[in-house]
This record gives sequence, C-alpha cells and structure tokens, in this order.
Amino acid sequence: MTVDGQAVELKEGMTVYDAVRQAGIGLPVLCHRDGLTPTGGCGICTVEEVTSGRLLPACATRAEASMVIATGSEAAVEFRRTALELLLSNHPADCDAPCQLACPSGLPAQELMERILAGDWEGARVLARRYPFACASAAPCEKACRRKPLGGAVAVCALHRWLAEGEGTGPQEVRQEAGKNKGNLPRFRSRMRGLTEEALLALCSEKGERLLASDATGVTPEAAVYEAARCMRCGCRKPDDCRLRELCAAADAKQSSFAGETRPILRQRSRNGFRFDSSRCVLCGLCVRTAQKAGASLAPAFHGRGFEAQIGPPHGRTWDDIPEAVLAMVAAVCPTGAMTAEAAPSNAGFARNPMSNSQQGNVQPKK
Ligand code: SF4
Ligand code: SF4
Ligand code: FES
Repeated sequence: MTVDGQAVELKEGMTVYDAVRQAGIGLPVLCHRDGLTPTGGCGICTVEEVTSGRLLPACATRAEASMVIATGSEAAVEFRRTALELLLSNHPADCDAPCQLACPSGLPAQELMERILAGDWEGARVLARRYPFACASAAPCEKACRRKPLGGAVAVCALHRWLAEGEGTGPQEVRQEAGKNKGNLPRFRSRMRGLTEEALLALCSEKGERLLASDATGVTPEAAVYEAARCMRCGCRKPDDCRLRELCAAADAKQSSFAGETRPILRQRSRNGFRFDSSRCVLCGLCVRTAQKAGASLAPAFHGRGFEAQIGPPHGRTWDDIPEAVLAMVAAVCPTGAMTAEAAPSNAGFARNPMSNSQQGNVQPKK
C-alpha cells in the first residue's frame, strides 16, 4: 500500500496504523496500545484513504494493498483535531490547581495537603522544603485559592512555612520555579468555576471555615489536618503526564470549540493509594482491555451506555476489592489523570485521616 507517497510492503494482519509506522511516520493514538485489541473509539488516529475519500481509524482498520493513505490531509487533520476538541468539551480541564500556578515556587499545594491528610509528615516536610518559601506575607496562592469565598482560602502559606521551617529531618532539596516548567503544554479554562457552592464543598472533607492565621503561628498537627481537609484538590494528579494535554498541544485543539455537558465529578480512592476521578476519564477503555489481557478476574469495567457510560469497579465491588497490582497496572496505562496510583503513605505520627473513606465526593455539574 501507499502511505504519504511511500510504498509499504504489507504483512499478514497489519493494520493501517502498523503500515504508517512502518513507513516511519508518526501518527497520534489515544485509545490504542500495542498488544491490545483496537476499538477505533477515539478517532485520534484518523487518516484519509485518498482513492475513496474515506476517513479511517488507522488503529482499527486492516491494511489493504490497494489503499493510498494520506496521514496529513486537511480532512484527516481536521477530523483528529475535532475529535480532541470533543473530548475537551466535557473535560474538567483543571490541569494545574490555581494555587500552584500562583505560587512563585510552584508548590503543589494539593499534594502537600494530601500528605498531611495521610499523616505522612515526613513526606510533607520533604515536599515543603523542595519548594523555597518565598512569600513573606502576600500569599498569592491563597489569593487564587478556590475556597476563598467558601469560608476562607486554605492556609497554604502558613502550612508551607510551618513544614519548611519547623522541626524535621527531611533533605533540603530545593527546586526553583518547579511549577513554571510546563513546556508547551496548553492551559485550559477551568470548568470548576461553573459548579455551585454546595457542589464545590462536597469535594472537601472539611466544610468549615478557616481557623489558621496567615503566619505560621498556632499551627498544630490537628490544625494542619483540619486545614488540609478544607482543600478541594482542584488540580489534576498527572498534570505533566497527560496524553490528552500533549495531543491537544500538538494538534492545536481548542477547548472553546464545543461546549459539552460536563460529567459529574466522582472522586474515589482505595485503601492503597489508588485514585479514580471520573471527570478526567476519556473512556478510552485502555484500563479495561489491559486488565482483561493480563487475565485479571477483578478489574475496572464499563457501566452504562452513551453519555451515561463510565468506568468503575465491577458491579457490587469497590476499588478495594481489586488487587493492588491490577490497580497499579491500570493507573500506569491511563492516559489522563483519571486513574493514579501511589505507594501507601508511611502514616507516621498522626492517626486521623478524614479522607479514608473509599468515596470522597460525587458532584453533579450545574445545569
Ligand atoms: S482548594 Fe486546595 S487545590 Fe484548590 S486552590 Fe485552594 S489550596 Fe489549591
Ligand atoms: S480510566 Fe483512564 S484508561 Fe480507563 S477508560 Fe478512563 S481514561 Fe481510559
Ligand atoms: S487511537 Fe485509533 S481510534 Fe483511538
């Protein structure tokens, strides 16, 4: 067959995607992965068959000798961009939390709050010290915090200072401007702004008002946990490792092209640090097919159809029922921040963990 003017010798069972790669041409994929049965679901690998004018999902189309494929035709490029923009249309798009974007050091505040909540005091100290404490009083992170109108901004600065300057044994590993190094990754408009106050508060474990002063006086472990539980964890857990974000950057896909109905925000976690955020799921099915291929008997599954379709644990089960190795495997293949896994925190020091419930928040978008 011919790919972008090059003759490609076909072998038995090759797909158009295989042939394109054999020609040395890069083609984006999202729902496809080598070794898994292709579904042709996302359309991100679409190419044009020039003779017929058909647009084909390369990963799911068997290659034929008579085909003349154009990977960069106007129609194919436009189709791929539109497919991405449709995915963006109901994506929460909060790649980076506003507090992190505002912090001169780029402190990942939500990660700091998660470590505090998990009782991982050493991890929290190490993280706080990695990002130089740079603001004496201005606290730009707190000015940007989404909880500001809801009982006051999370006391990010006070906790940062308390952990970075207080007693502790963590290494002084300093990373300047860590949050500013986003390469050419695009920034999208947050969809959390459209949520009601009630919906936003449902995303935190603690609905109460801020109690800590702006300086680091009066901080105790109990006060730190209370404050950390007020955080809504606005940002994505994989902001720098998101296939969707990379593909949008490469294709110049724009968020505003379609205004879709947003998905409910359902955040769940398992005992061992696995987390699922349904609003970030692009329904590629890689998690389901990867676990199936590995022969896992308990694994993520599709539930519902059409717009109602979503990923979850098998009927009648929770994420806690799925083996840790399977959760780690599916989190590793998930192309977005929908599934993440991490080693269980050391839980040294402080016992209370307000986020220990398997399900933390289920928020319907504002109509
Ligand atoms: S609620 Fe948490 S994640 Fe959101 S802006 Fe405030 S500190 Fe950052
Ligand atoms: S959870 Fe991740 S891997 Fe699974 S369908 Fe959603 S985006 Fe794809
Ligand atoms: S990557 Fe081919 S259709 Fe999704």
